Amino acid sequence: MEIKKQQGLRGTLAVPGDKSISHRAVMFGALADGTTRISHFLEGADCLSTISCFRRMGIEIERNGSEILVHGNGLRGLNSPREILNAGNSGTTTRLIAGILSGQKFISELDGDDSLRGRPMKRIMDPLSAMGADIRSHRDNGCLPLRIVGRRLHAIHYTSPVASAQVKSCVLLAGMYADGPTSVTEPFLSRNHTEIMLNYFGANVTSQGTTASILPEPELRAREVLVPGDISSAAYFIAAGLLAPNSEILLKNVGINPTRAGILKICRQMGADIELLNENHTGEPTADLLVRSSSLRGTVIEGAEIPTLIDEIPVLAVMAAFAEGTTIIRDAGELKVKESDRIAVMVENLKRMGADIEGTEDGMIIHGGKPLHGAVIDPHLDHRVAMSFAVAGTVCEGSLDIQDWDCVNISYPDFYKDLYSLG
Ligand code: S3P
Repeated sequence: MEIKKQQGLRGTLAVPGDKSISHRAVMFGALADGTTRISHFLEGADCLSTISCFRRMGIEIERNGSEILVHGNGLRGLNSPREILNAGNSGTTTRLIAGILSGQKFISELDGDDSLRGRPMKRIMDPLSAMGADIRSHRDNGCLPLRIVGRRLHAIHYTSPVASAQVKSCVLLAGMYADGPTSVTEPFLSRNHTEIMLNYFGANVTSQGTTASILPEPELRAREVLVPGDISSAAYFIAAGLLAPNSEILLKNVGINPTRAGILKICRQMGADIELLNENHTGEPTADLLVRSSSLRGTVIEGAEIPTLIDEIPVLAVMAAFAEGTTIIRDAGELKVKESDRIAVMVENLKRMGADIEGTEDGMIIHGGKPLHGAVIDPHLDHRVAMSFAVAGTVCEGSLDIQDWDCVNISYPDFYKDLYSLG
């Protein structure tokens, strides 16, 4: 995929549905009584992995493009899967389903692709084991494949060492099958889509500060879910619109839940011109984002902000490389255990373009404003890295070549088509 410099990106886009919300809508729909209708579902490979896992447990799911019908069987209506549940590349599928599987009356096995097999699962095995689940890593290395023997679980109050919505959600979902109220406290607040959507389906989830709690045995009822546009997908067009001169891009109906919208705050700190239009604050908040070319300056990104923009750090690193001055990203060690080691992979590829960037233990230091040139980019099969460099290619001198460009199918199959529609 060869990307060339663009002058004036203009137009209107509706980015695909939010990945985190799409996963949860299928999962909670499967555990509810009745038929859940999901609109603007993300048709990326990750969310299709979630559908495939629930089909293997006997849930009937009809799919017509981004319209999905999930025929739920209730909290205890999953069947024992006859095959291994394959989560593909998806950490969210794995970690959330593991919480559900731990409370079932059957044995199951979970596996995924090479990238997912290298990602840490001890972070969910620890709390699930504390709840009494029998969950084992085949190779005894705290990674996939996992074998889970479902049990009646004990309620716990888990203090998580990481701010991770996947860990929090895993424990809350297991808590539905526990013998009392289950709580999770995390160091900083991570995305709260599980809490919002479980309550919408009829569960009793409360939040106080960075602690979320759930009561067991909820009666989940089928609902209609309209999935907002994914701010993590919008991020690439926010960055491209800000960086490419003479640009004006309108991004329709993007989710702006405060636990996800850190990128908007940081962009403004960097001097970005982004207007929020048609804000809607019922359920998951949404807005249209109007983005215009801006001169950007470096900033510091750290602490409680990190979980609110964790998936946007690769594209923020690209923005920082084109901004004037220094950007420091710290407290983001989690980047090392995403679909790739995003610190190493961003540093390697931005250096190939001539950027002045240094990786640290928990982030990056980027001295921006150096003239950047095209290069051959290896995204290490990481969708967010590939899309971040496509943005870099619209702004740098010369042409930029992205290897394995189709890894964007994980979260945004039409990404290049949408990018070209603005050029
Ligand atoms: C997600 C949580 C985040 C995020 C991932 C999706 C979710 O992961 O990076 O893309 O849907 O809960 P962590 O929970 O590991 O931080």
